[in-house]
Amino acid sequence: MYLCPVTRGRLSDGRSPEGRRYPTLDGVPVLVTDPDRFLARHGPGAWDMSQGLPTRRIEDLPVDAADPVTPHLPPSALGGTGSFGKWLQTLGERCPDQVCAQWGIELAPNGRALDVGCGVGPMARRMAASGRQTWAFDHAPRAVLLARDLLLGRLKETVVPTSRGGLQRVRWPFKPLSDRGLHFFIADAANPPLPEGAFAWVHLGNVLDIADDVAGSILSACVELLQPGGLLTLSTPYDSDEVGLLGASPPEDELREAITALGLSLTEQDEQVPWVVREYDRGFRVLSCHCIAARRPVR
Ligand SMILES: C[S@@+](CC[C@H](N)C(=O)[O-])C[C@H]1O[C@@H](n2cnc3c(N)ncnc32)[C@H](O)[C@@H]1O
Repeated sequence: MYLCPVTRGRLSDGRSPEGRRYPTLDGVPVLVTDPDRFLARHGPGAWDMSQGLPTRRIEDLPVDAADPVTPHLPPSALGGTGSFGKWLQTLGERCPDQVCAQWGIELAPNGRALDVGCGVGPMARRMAASGRQTWAFDHAPRAVLLARDLLLGRLKETVVPTSRGGLQRVRWPFKPLSDRGLHFFIADAANPPLPEGAFAWVHLGNVLDIADDVAGSILSACVELLQPGGLLTLSTPYDSDEVGLLGASPPEDELREAITALGLSLTEQDEQVPWVVREYDRGFRVLSCHCIAARRPVR
């Protein structure tokens, strides 16, 4: 039987395989529709198709993923030289996570928090540090395991890329959080096997722009997970491609319409939040993000 990671009760959504417990990967529940197939592709022992040989490792983060530490840092702590570094200093703490976390902490009712598509867990860390029981998931096993190991203090240091292909050791700069208040699992955001209405605060950080044709399903799944009066916080980089995921450019109106069509009322918006992604010590990407907070009606 599959057990719910939130209530510890039986999953009653009809989407999970019957008659068995869900498997775990290094202690993390794998709550996907077909876990055996998923683990065969992404878990230890997965076939490395480039070599034609079974590997003994969990697949790495995508090559364009940021290192595990800097997504947690405010722009002013990211380094950067010359006038660019000075500009980062002017941003101080301001970044999509900080903006959305402030809304969540101030506006969400008491109750559980959920970080959807958590990556290496920058928002899960803020949620749990604010004292809420927090759950976080992603469909990338490596990201979830790294998030767990860093946030719970199992990994004291990691490496981040530097220029010319080098690596630099970096100590994890935050206090460990308790595993009593922070829980991880692996799942698909378009089909999360969680109880409806279980969360007071759901965050969707920079997932929609890469979700292609499942963006709408992810958004509506997040809304279903909100309790009445619960708050969705969302950040997404501007996407002005003709084939933008929610339609033609500019997508902001369409995103707002999609959220209100799902029955939420927009409570906060900031369309110009810079998201600085450090790729290595002399390489940064700056994306302009749209941050939104929206509330599910109380009844
Ligand atoms: C750009 S990263 C953002 C990570 C984190 N939310 C943040 O803001 O730093 C996007 C994340 O979404 C995850 N993701 C994309 N589609 C997903 C899906 N359908 N289900 C679960 N996670 C997904 C990716 O694996 C990746 O970790």
